[in-house]
Amino acid sequence: MHAARRNAAIQLFAAAISLAQFFPADALAQTASPDLIRAGESLFRGTTRFTHGGPACAACHHVSGLPFPGGGTMGPDLTHEYSKVGAVGLQGSLQTLFFPTMTPLFANRPLTTDEQNQLFAFLENADSKPIAGTPTGVFAWVAVIGCVLLLIVTWLLGRKRIQSVRKAMLHRAVQKRGAVS
Ligand code: HEC
Repeated sequence: MHAARRNAAIQLFAAAISLAQFFPADALAQTASPDLIRAGESLFRGTTRFTHGGPACAACHHVSGLPFPGGGTMGPDLTHEYSKVGAVGLQGSLQTLFFPTMTPLFANRPLTTDEQNQLFAFLENADSKPIAGTPTGVFAWVAVIGCVLLLIVTWLLGRKRIQSVRKAMLHRAVQKRGAVS
């Protein structure tokens, strides 16, 4: 990515954010159909593949309401991205995907106009949801419960093995002593 193009894109993004303050998001928002929102969610989660093969957004971003295990935490939570940058800013973001971590992945794999519209509808709809915690807590509990279960199983199985080995040794010792005396 050339520095000039990079600067131009950053300026575009900055301009979009400042524009968003003059045009409240509601004024620009189209009412999205549930189908469009669902198509956007499917793209975001990676259930539908991007035409040009970019990675699913959920690999790095979370949005409230995504089914378990939700999205990644490498990128910022995008639940309220629509309020943050406004309709113009969000449209610009989806068009360029110009963020340092994402550029190498998406520079040659841009989203089609349809994909941009679907993701826009999904993120616009997500904006009304409260930010929910990430499921890290659930993973922690699954790990703790799994550990305890494994310990119990190991103990139950191991106890029997030790007993049977001990029994065999005792048996042999008794026989030996019997032979000596
Ligand atoms: C490889 C991980 C990764 C993937 C995949 C990814 N992003 Fe990002 N994204 C990031 C990171 C990290 C940031 C924070 C800025 C940076 O470091 O680049 C970011 C920033 C953003 C931002 C700006 C957020 C803000 O308010 O600063 C938007 C919007 C965004 N991503 C949308 C998307 C969309 C839409 C997709 C799917 C088409 C996507 N991202 C896929 C990692 C990713």
